[in-house]
Amino acid sequence: MAGLVVAMDGPSGSGKSSASRGVARALRLRYLDTGAMYRAMTWWMLEQGVDVADPAAVAARCGEPEIISGTDPDGPTIRVGSTDVAGPIRTSEVTGSVSAVAAVPEVRTRLVALQREIIGTGGIVVEGRDIGTVVWPEAAVKIYLTASAEARALRRTAELSGTTVEAQQAAMARRDTLDSTRKADPLSMADGAIELDTTPLTLQEVIDAVLSVVARQG
Ligand code: C5P
Repeated sequence: MAGLVVAMDGPSGSGKSSASRGVARALRLRYLDTGAMYRAMTWWMLEQGVDVADPAAVAARCGEPEIISGTDPDGPTIRVGSTDVAGPIRTSEVTGSVSAVAAVPEVRTRLVALQREIIGTGGIVVEGRDIGTVVWPEAAVKIYLTASAEARALRRTAELSGTTVEAQQAAMARRDTLDSTRKADPLSMADGAIELDTTPLTLQEVIDAVLSVVARQG
């Protein structure tokens, strides 16, 4: 398992985070949440007062923040410099702006380079939107998780407070459209990826399904 890279891609609410952490724990691998890195970049831009709707302004500043990701699946951490941003990156303000920031090619170039550095010699489960297509196309195992729009919105609503399933479904549809239609590294299924529809599955069933792919291909 030492050099193994498991790429876990898919839209928000497909169950990627819980499944990726579960797989990493079961196989004693590291875990990297690349979405948290795009969120940390977005949090920093908002803190600095950068207009996130202006790609040139975002591109001009995206080399500045020091984004540090911990890779323990039992307690993944995310910091910008010395500031722990694990909480702040989950606010609705960051969630509403992250797709615009993540669409800026200069942001992607910087974060993909950082992600490749962290993956290093492998032994890691990496979740995101472009892991199997761009970040690590040579990953031995590539999984593409999907779920129905209702199931995804229901899961997200259960995780958050003060929102409704309808509002979540609309917000997720907007983010999916931005993520899959952007020019730079859009969300798409990688060549050789195994698609797993998690709609009817429990978390443990999703983890078991990924583990059986690893046993076959890893
Ligand atoms: O996974 P999460 O929902 O936290 O990701 C937040 C956003 O970060 C996504 O909606 C997408 O815009 C961006 N993202 C990305 N590429 C990745 C991971 C996340 O563009 N590999």
